Amino acid sequence: MGINILGLGKYVPEQVLTNDDFKRFIDTDDEWIRTRTGICERHMAGWEPTWYMGKEASLVAIKKAGISPEDIGLVISCTATSDFHTPSMASVIQHETGAVNACAFDINAACTGFIYGLDTARRFLETDESMKYALVVANESLSRFVDFKDRASCILFGDGACACVIEKSDKLFASHLASDGSGAGYLCARALDVAPEVKIDKDFDDGFTKNPLHKLYQNGKEVYKFAVNALPESFERISEKTGLTKDEIDWFIPHQANIRIIETASKKLGVLMDKFIVTIDHYGNTSSASIPLALEESVEKGIIKRGQKIALIGFGAGLTYGGIVLEY
Ligand code: COA
Repeated sequence: MGINILGLGKYVPEQVLTNDDFKRFIDTDDEWIRTRTGICERHMAGWEPTWYMGKEASLVAIKKAGISPEDIGLVISCTATSDFHTPSMASVIQHETGAVNACAFDINAACTGFIYGLDTARRFLETDESMKYALVVANESLSRFVDFKDRASCILFGDGACACVIEKSDKLFASHLASDGSGAGYLCARALDVAPEVKIDKDFDDGFTKNPLHKLYQNGKEVYKFAVNALPESFERISEKTGLTKDEIDWFIPHQANIRIIETASKKLGVLMDKFIVTIDHYGNTSSASIPLALEESVEKGIIKRGQKIALIGFGAGLTYGGIVLEY
């Protein structure tokens, strides 16, 4: 069983941080950031909580889908940067959007979150006859977790949200979800309030001792090596399932982490960059929101059209990775 994407909606904060803006607090320059990452600017949440961005994006998606919120049976919020340990942001968004008949929960698969969320929603729709529509919203405020003293990581991330309303259909759909937990310490942020209790000079090493704080820690080189292989591997796995070759895919939407990762992965996959949707220049890395934001923008611009086959491929902290091939 596949899905039909009925409506997409986004919310990005008004505040924009350009590469030059970083010069105010770290030793960097526009040229370094552009050439190493492909990023020119990113949106930064100001007063908006993360759930608020998700709610705004969801309201647009519901409106575009042309459905009533009461008919939504499931709300999944994909986030690695929740406002709360509890409740789930999905519960808050469920209430705020009027999806009163939905069950609601969060998924944290970091930058692969939307892939995990969309695939999970599809499985719910498949197994629950009474469920008509699902709302999957990816919402992230990386700026609240980034260490603005770490110049190699703080320049990468941006904030934003994107939501989609789906229904079941008999269209093409295949997925691959994976995780390599051995690399969990390469990209991590401790839960707030846990950090002060952690004594990193003890014998006990939980694998995260390089990061005693709740700010984001990143081993950029290890993450890079993982990402350039994860993307082609995930597509190959889906290809094995569907028999579809890369030439039969109209568009590839990779997680927008770094233009150099996307370019290297496109070479490894043997697919020209013309087929890759790239939005990293104006959004930066918005974690789980990056793939749906790129999808939404391409649909709005008329680049992606109904009937086309698209491959969504994510990778990120966990280390999680995975992809979905579907007909739009
Ligand atoms: N501005 C200027 N110089 C910077 C800088 C910045 N913002 N950040 C780092 N540098 C410097 C370093 O200090 C280093 O200087 P040195 O040689 O004098 O020590 C030099 O640039 C090279 O640093 P390095 O860390 O080797 O750069 P890199 O080529 O590996 O690029 C990343 C760094 C983070 C861009 C790259 O590793 C990367 O993209 N990794 C993947 C990160 C990612 O995508 N994470 C999210 C995945 S979901």
